Amino acid sequence: MHDKDLKKIISTLSTKEKVGQLIQLTGNFFDSSDDVIETGPMKRIGFHEGAYDLRNTGSLLNVVNPEKIYAIQKKYLETTTHNIPLLFMADVIYGYKTIFPIPLAQSGSWNFSLIEESARIIAKECYEAGIHVTFSPMVDIVRDPRWGRVMESPGEDTLLAEKYAKSMVKGIQGTDKKIPKEHIAACVKHFAAYGAPQSGLEYGAVELSYDSLQNYYLPSYKAAIDADVKLVMTAFNTLNGVPATGNKWLNKEVLRKEYDYNGVLISDYAAIEELRVHGCTETDKDSARMAFESSVDIDMKTSVYANYLPELAESNTAIMELLDEAVLRILNLKNDLGLFEDPYRGLRDSTKDSSILSDEHKQASQKLAEESVVLLKNDDVLPLESELNIAVIGPYAEEKSALGFWAITGDPKDTITLKSGMESLSDEFSWKVDVAKGANILEKEEIAKYGKYTESMYVDERSKEALLDEAIQLAKRSDKVVLALGESVYQSGEGGSRTEPTLPKEQIKLLKEIKKAGKPIILVIYAGRPLILNDIQDEVDAILYAWYPGTMGGYALANILSGKANPSGKLSMTFPRSVGQIPLFYNNYSSGRPKNENDPNHRFTSRYLDEETSALYPFGYGLSYTNFKYTGLSLDKDEFNNDEEIVASVKIKNTGHREGKEVVQLYIHDIAASVVRPVKELKDFKKVTLKPGEEKEVSFIIKKDLLTYRTQENGWQAEKGAFDVFVGSSSRDEKNKKRFYLID
Ligand code: GLC
Repeated sequence: MHDKDLKKIISTLSTKEKVGQLIQLTGNFFDSSDDVIETGPMKRIGFHEGAYDLRNTGSLLNVVNPEKIYAIQKKYLETTTHNIPLLFMADVIYGYKTIFPIPLAQSGSWNFSLIEESARIIAKECYEAGIHVTFSPMVDIVRDPRWGRVMESPGEDTLLAEKYAKSMVKGIQGTDKKIPKEHIAACVKHFAAYGAPQSGLEYGAVELSYDSLQNYYLPSYKAAIDADVKLVMTAFNTLNGVPATGNKWLNKEVLRKEYDYNGVLISDYAAIEELRVHGCTETDKDSARMAFESSVDIDMKTSVYANYLPELAESNTAIMELLDEAVLRILNLKNDLGLFEDPYRGLRDSTKDSSILSDEHKQASQKLAEESVVLLKNDDVLPLESELNIAVIGPYAEEKSALGFWAITGDPKDTITLKSGMESLSDEFSWKVDVAKGANILEKEEIAKYGKYTESMYVDERSKEALLDEAIQLAKRSDKVVLALGESVYQSGEGGSRTEPTLPKEQIKLLKEIKKAGKPIILVIYAGRPLILNDIQDEVDAILYAWYPGTMGGYALANILSGKANPSGKLSMTFPRSVGQIPLFYNNYSSGRPKNENDPNHRFTSRYLDEETSALYPFGYGLSYTNFKYTGLSLDKDEFNNDEEIVASVKIKNTGHREGKEVVQLYIHDIAASVVRPVKELKDFKKVTLKPGEEKEVSFIIKKDLLTYRTQENGWQAEKGAFDVFVGSSSRDEKNKKRFYLID
């Protein structure tokens, strides 16, 4: 349909019909008998008498079953008064049925073509299910592992988050204005800075300086918008005292004006109603006005817009004009999806083979998992040799609920467990693989607090002693132990803040008991966040951080443990030594008295009396089964002006006996700036593959735009002066460093 025809449709709508397009409800408003709906969801949501007619709804949330989508759309179009199709939106963050590793793992692959491929597959499976919009990518920058939703984020670094945003939007949507077949619309979230809640407490207030917001937290959303993302979702949090969902500066000045974004802005779940709870408005009517005047188009799952926008619009022409603009944005989205021509887009006919959980999709998930897993420690016990008796011990040895908190459309029964993965290689490597659980993920007394998730949290009926004893006996008769531990998937994700983000205590007890058997221990950790490992990292001989590796996780991990795949993951989020260090991140400011490594006990320096200041494992860190030697960092010039560039080159050699992938990272430190700059910032990277003995020269182009940062008075600028450039294997690797100058 032509855009001008959309305006014609709007001109035929009543005010209530216009407001109806701004309402998003859940499927239970449409999939039961009218009286059940009337006395159930319609009553609970709080629509005023006569305020709302379900036949005037704009979109539905989290209806993900294709048959249900078809039935609801069909019935709706038979009863609605204006023939505008429903939009179906869902949280398919990192997989529909083929589940990929969690985003915090994916970003650790530093392989954005694989990430874009995962997004394309996610979209294709959603398309076949009849879903039109996915609420992904989440690109909130995170520096606090106490917060449960770090699992959903691409991590602490702005450059990685920008690349993640762009890859995900492109993979999900394709690159045309009209969303092509097998693609759907993406929604970047949560605007803005939801990842910086005070104390890591879910939904907590966010207080950020102009410098932090503009230089670290906002660019990833902008990257999605520059990639033409179709929707933006507001955040739950206040930003410097004003809730994001009613924040005119954020949504009108920054998003609409400065970022020139004219797509749909949708509230997060019930966030408009929560403006009152935040203490920002006294009444829902005030909330309706505040959110609408800050340009929020869709009210997700509350009755606020339905109850108050019609009268606000009819009593104020300016608001009526804003209402027409909001409706046009929503109809544009529906039109870009081709819904007016085909309201059943993507719902596959029985003749077409489904791609859902196809071998191609599963192989893509496994490949991304293999590149996302991070080898944190290896005291020469990996890869596992042939002809071994291997004990796979721990609650994650056979755990199928290992897809992460936001795999709501995935089916755990499809998960390849670590046990299955190891057994699949037992013939090839002449392994004898035996399994013992050893402990539960969480004990019965702990899972009560998990509410509706409790019934999904399996607890073995055997006693703790019996579980432990079985594991110890198995360890004693084995050559090596693969210990599969981890936090519950319900200990991270939304509402999953933890004050002590460690392995559950019964699992730590299991680890210490197994250690007494005196066999080499390879610890495989399943988690949705960097856990505090300080107390256990010396207890084991190797640590493989699996995150939640997706549907094919077991095969990916077995390939790595056996050496069929050489690990290449590099952390996208810092691992602190203790909670007391949080927030801890690599691109920190120096302070005027940085810790003096030559005089570590000097009293008056920036340090703790009771803990190291450094990370246990830093951003960009990850081991391989081979070694890479960096030599000869050189710059083709050591000074340049605005329109020139510097070429930084380094040689990297694989000095080991296995082919491997290495992420060569380039960091820059602006030595002196009018607003201080981090001690280093990731500015570029290249993931290279090297055969044993092979050496390559890797080059980077340093231009002025790599040096720019934003200040309140001067906007985006690069200030002349001295810069240090580091090229190496992690943010801690400073062996290869050079200085250069921007001279004007
Ligand atoms: C949730 C999340 C958001 C999600 C939305 C719809 O509370 O904050 O990320 O997309 O509600 O389920």
